[in-house]
Amino acid sequence: MSAHDVSTLAISVVCCAIFLILTVMVFHALLSLSKTTPMTANQAPAPVRTVPPRVPPRRPARRSRDRDEPELLPVDATVTFGAERRAADIDDVFEALDRDLIGLVPVKRKVQEIAALLLVDRARNKFGLSAPRPNLHMCFTGPPGTGKTTVALRMAELLHRLGYLEQGHLVHAMRDDLVAEYVGQTAPKTKRVLDAAMGGVLFIDEAYYLFRPGDSKDYGQEVVDILLQVMENERDKLVVILAGYKDRMDDFFGSNPGMSSRIAHHLDFAAFELDELVHIGRRMMERSNYYLSAEAEAAFSEYLTDQMGQPRFANARGVRNELDRARLRHAHRLATELDRSWNRDDLMRLEPADVVIRA
Ligand SMILES: Nc1ncnc2c1ncn2[C@@H]1O[C@H](COP(=O)(O)OP(=O)(O)OP(=O)(O)O)[C@@H](O)[C@H]1O
Ligand SMILES: [Mg+2]
Repeated sequence: MSAHDVSTLAISVVCCAIFLILTVMVFHALLSLSKTTPMTANQAPAPVRTVPPRVPPRRPARRSRDRDEPELLPVDATVTFGAERRAADIDDVFEALDRDLIGLVPVKRKVQEIAALLLVDRARNKFGLSAPRPNLHMCFTGPPGTGKTTVALRMAELLHRLGYLEQGHLVHAMRDDLVAEYVGQTAPKTKRVLDAAMGGVLFIDEAYYLFRPGDSKDYGQEVVDILLQVMENERDKLVVILAGYKDRMDDFFGSNPGMSSRIAHHLDFAAFELDELVHIGRRMMERSNYYLSAEAEAAFSEYLTDQMGQPRFANARGVRNELDRARLRHAHRLATELDRSWNRDDLMRLEPADVVIRA
């Protein structure tokens, strides 16, 4: 090997060594850099994000209810509630309430008030103005068929859209769904219902039947005790709505002051007036492409006036049931005249004979 060859080999070995050292350094640099950048969703679960306040608030900033909640607004920022409503996408919930439910003005006003409370709470959160989450447990009182369940469904949707309920579904329960017959079975039975309702609304119809004063063998009180605990401790995850007749609900609250103190909003559903019932009937007919002739509407009003005095009258449900029966009679009237021709209007129009059975 010549001297020239030896020096060429030495230079090559030195170059290789330098290259190797540089490669190792670059690799280390990249490795340390990767530790400071956020992980992507498929590398590891995202850490819980706490948004640092831009302007230090006087009170400690509230933890984000929603992981995707944007950063806090600067102290000189402004908000409009038109924009807040649009951002929460709640206007169509109110449109549906107005469109589907006739009357119920005080109830609709109360729903608007609750939405306003939550919109302001959300806006305050954006500025880091912390406050405990508003208590949202409610009580809906009123006679049968006045829209309590329908409004509860809309309420669940509203609370979901505003970010106060994760799923916004509604679980309907009555005494028999919660209270068991034998010792030791009530708690697991109630827990199953509560688990199903988590993230949504637990709607307890005729809640006063949970309580049977003087019956020492009854397990309803056990349910009430569990509910009291859950309504306090899980109020971020579950909204409880108790429903039933007003006077019985007042008695129930009288015997269970703990329950009364956990209810933040009372919505009273009044029985409908005659013109509201007629309006509800007309709207139900329109939706199914039927209508009452002028005479049929007069006969229906007369029928309703009579029914309104009955103790078991079921208001809007009563209207719907009676109109379902009227459709049956109408169909029977048309279909039994085999050789007679009926036009489109005949197929839509209910006559007095369809609406009321004459004695
Ligand atoms: N204000 C209203 N306008 C139009 N339809 C209504 C109205 N209120 C209720 N309804 C209709 O009446 C029926 C019964 O309503 P809903 O079940 O909400 O009443 P409820 O108060 O929960 O009755 P209950 O106390 O018997 O459970 C539903 O078909 C509903 O759409
Ligand atoms: Mg109901």
